[in-house]
Amino acid sequence: MAIRFLALFQVLIIYSTFLHIILPQNSCNASNIVPKLKQCGFDAIYNLGTSISDTGNSAIDNPSIWQAMFPYGKTINEATGRPSDGLLIIDYIARSADLPLVVPYKNSSALHLSTSRGVNFAYSGAPALSEEALAKKNITLDWAKPTLSVQLGWLDDYFKGYCNNVKDCKEAVSSSLFMINFGTNDYGYAFSQNHNIEEIKKNGLVSDVVEAIKQALQKIISQGARKVLVFGVALDGCRPISVTMESANKSATYDRFGCVKDNNDFCNYHNVLLQEGLKELREQHPDVQIVYGDLYNAMQSILDNSQSLGFKSLTEACCDVDVEIKKKAVLYKDKLCGAHGTIVCPKPEEYVFWDNGHCTQKANEQLADWIIQDIFPKFQCNA
Ligand SMILES: *[C@@H]1O[C@H](CO)[C@@H](O)[C@H](O)[C@H]1NC(C)=O
Ligand SMILES: *[C@@H]1O[C@H](CO)[C@@H](O)[C@H](O)[C@H]1NC(C)=O
Ligand SMILES: *[C@@H]1O[C@H](CO)[C@@H](O)[C@H](O)[C@H]1NC(C)=O
Ligand SMILES: *[C@@H]1O[C@H](CO)[C@@H](O)[C@H](O)[C@H]1NC(C)=O
Repeated sequence: MAIRFLALFQVLIIYSTFLHIILPQNSCNASNIVPKLKQCGFDAIYNLGTSISDTGNSAIDNPSIWQAMFPYGKTINEATGRPSDGLLIIDYIARSADLPLVVPYKNSSALHLSTSRGVNFAYSGAPALSEEALAKKNITLDWAKPTLSVQLGWLDDYFKGYCNNVKDCKEAVSSSLFMINFGTNDYGYAFSQNHNIEEIKKNGLVSDVVEAIKQALQKIISQGARKVLVFGVALDGCRPISVTMESANKSATYDRFGCVKDNNDFCNYHNVLLQEGLKELREQHPDVQIVYGDLYNAMQSILDNSQSLGFKSLTEACCDVDVEIKKKAVLYKDKLCGAHGTIVCPKPEEYVFWDNGHCTQKANEQLADWIIQDIFPKFQCNA
């Protein structure tokens, strides 16, 4: 038995060595080898977006908010303002590109120290649409959030100063990676104010959000961007907040992972419209690489492979409050993780979600790996 086992083992070793020799690296897609974005030669990363990619901006403006404090940052032993127990997708993308972690725009000292390898303008709670545009759809913001157009203004200001100091600004901009993620908050505010999916589809909110993203892309392309990564929305129906909100709806339906089907279908609806918009932009700008960041399918892949990846909880928050406190909370308004009565799970790496709306570091790392595999050939990095 032991000998047979050893023999089999040897065959496996020989076989795998053989495979390594005969297979060119790029055909090894079934393995876990994630290509390095370093090969893409991105000079810097500029990012616009929501909490999904906020590496500290909202926490710098408001040091008393939930994500500025423990247990946020638990896994990396530092509360950095990121809405997770550790790092975000953008951090793994920066690492893979062999760039420093992208500096938050609001950290002026870091901005001065940085060697122009990028800036992060993303801000938690930021919608794609302006307060006025949302008000037209009967959606109100409870405080002025740095919307997409506000973040574009920051980017403008930054480049004005930057281009005074950099010799060939156009060249530097054209070899930078621009990333953008928006949508989840616009829809989140709408849902929390009792607008339902059918109404949102009818009243044009989704097409307005997609149009705002397209206009932002036109603007950064006119400023010289040549490599752009545009994220769709993820499977928001899997977020603990969606599952909790839907629990009052007796006729709600769930997929086999416990995610709210209608919400996921709605995310897909946004993503399809967004991709149609990107197709138009590619036709208008054949010299620009406009790549879609498919968070939806990245997350689907995590759920499909949750067992082998070691995830035990797919739709519950690792960091949450006691059930009794939660019952009294106003979802979307009251941030639960970090509030009085917070309970943190012992092993965040077994959870896809850290809090009621955001992924754990482990999930972010897996999502980033999937995205990197997917975008690598699209940016023609090994050309
Ligand atoms: C490997 O690549 C082929 C061709 O691109 C694709 O059909 C297949 O699904 C990939 N396999 C995995 C495991 O990604
Ligand atoms: C700002 O950046 C500096 C330098 O990287 C860092 O030491 C500091 O902790 C940051 N401050 C905040 C509030 O994030
Ligand atoms: C706007 O929302 C409020 C409260 O959610 C509702 O009472 C009102 O009928 C809505 N108005 C329109 C025009 O949809
Ligand atoms: C409840 O779920 C059903 C089925 O998915 C859906 O059609 C309906 O709009 C939901 N009701 C509310 C109030 O969200």
